[in-house]
Amino acid sequence: MQTNVGLLGYGTVGAGVAKIISLEDSLLSQKIGWSLKLSKAVVRDPEKHRAFTPPPGLLTTNPDEVVGNPDIPVVVEVMGGIEPARSFVLKALRSGQHVVTANKALLATHGREIFETALQNKKEIFFEAAVAGAIPVIRTLKEGLAANRIQSVFGILNGTTNYILTSMAQEGTSFADALGEAQKLGYAEADPAADVEGTDAAHKLVLLTALAYGVLPGLGDIRVEGITGLEALDFKFARALGYVIKLLAVSNLNPGDGRLEFLLAPALLPRDHLLAGVSGVMNAVMVRGHACGDIFLSGAGAGMLPTASAVVGDIIEIARIAHSDSPPTKPSLGWQNLKDEAVKPAGDIRSSYYLRFSVHDRPGVLSALSGVLAKHDISIAQVIQKGVNPETGSVFLVILTHATPEKELTAALVEARGLDTLTAEPKVIRVEDFLAV
Ligand SMILES: NC(=O)c1ccc[n+]([C@@H]2O[C@H](COP(=O)([O-])OP(=O)(O)OC[C@H]3O[C@@H](n4cnc5c(N)ncnc54)[C@H](OP(=O)(O)O)[C@@H]3O)[C@@H](O)[C@H]2O)c1
Repeated sequence: MQTNVGLLGYGTVGAGVAKIISLEDSLLSQKIGWSLKLSKAVVRDPEKHRAFTPPPGLLTTNPDEVVGNPDIPVVVEVMGGIEPARSFVLKALRSGQHVVTANKALLATHGREIFETALQNKKEIFFEAAVAGAIPVIRTLKEGLAANRIQSVFGILNGTTNYILTSMAQEGTSFADALGEAQKLGYAEADPAADVEGTDAAHKLVLLTALAYGVLPGLGDIRVEGITGLEALDFKFARALGYVIKLLAVSNLNPGDGRLEFLLAPALLPRDHLLAGVSGVMNAVMVRGHACGDIFLSGAGAGMLPTASAVVGDIIEIARIAHSDSPPTKPSLGWQNLKDEAVKPAGDIRSSYYLRFSVHDRPGVLSALSGVLAKHDISIAQVIQKGVNPETGSVFLVILTHATPEKELTAALVEARGLDTLTAEPKVIRVEDFLAV
């Protein structure tokens, strides 16, 4: 017995999948009870050099050899992008094929249509590789933690940005230099926008939210802030205060009002927290459930074999389903119905903040600024005054606040900008203290 598998794409991930299926045939057969066979792989250019050489005849430019082919029960979409991937995935599900995909952009933007099509056609769509690469967070949320009311999901979900931030923190490099280094090492694309502007991590946060709460938010519900505005000196100040800076993805379900709270932005994390120790290209996810407490998962978030590890894990699971007599009983997201979303406006979300002011070096500055904050009911947790801004001759005043609604901080900053003491635009970064919401 064997399960035929068709690939859409034979790039980094597709070649990794082919490598594992070819070289680990006897291991996989031991686990499943039969073989996986790659039947066809759709590409644009069959002549291109491949990281793992495909057997003769595997590559094709004709998608019909895979999509809708009744001899191929499992289609693996690893081509990326929205179209034609979306049309291929929908057609495969409607033709009675199960689908595995690594495409977070596709699921974050067209997930509702795709998951509904899977359910209507009683087919599975598995997507373990779409979030945090090799880390089995999808299955953990869907199955291992199914008994829990999930309260929070925290993640470091993009290896490129985590590499850049680690390098800025450890070497004191500028953002531009750290990005250049990441590109030289192959950790960042020639066009790094989706990574450094936070879009890639936002796609993954949409999927984690869907799995955690049965709500599929729109991308527009998540305000996304990337890492391009971070400066090396903020890492030094953060360290002096006992923190590190990470691009943090947070999805909370507030038990008080039942509303979702999102954060996808650089954030200060206490230096001794597990997520703060996640360095370089590594990813990590922490899930907080009412029964399980905090669960922490960490590992490689990208790369040929780590991503293929997750894809092949999905193929194995789907091969078992494809060979069973009964159709899948579990919906792909782990929820029977998607609930309506209730998202808290960003202005109402409470957080502590790191504020870096550049101010004239003269008496009364701190009291003027603390007066403005006090007027908006924002209390101060720590203050440091250190260093001179060489461009302006002014000094840096760094304030760590206690938790406050974002709209209060925004109003306070409008007022602070009106003071004649500021010499530059204040820098604002959230502080995540991991307390219960
Ligand atoms: N790379 C990672 O570490 C990683 C990690 C997690 C998730 N993912 C996700 O996995 C997916 C694939 O990523 P990747 O890095 O493997 O991409 P990739 O290296 O660019 O490979 C894409 C493959 O799809 C083929 N392809 C693209 N558009 C096509 C079209 N219109 N018609 C036919 N074939 C087409 C390409 O053909 P040619 O080779 O002929 O150009 C190539 O073989 C993406 O959704 C990505 O977000 C990647």
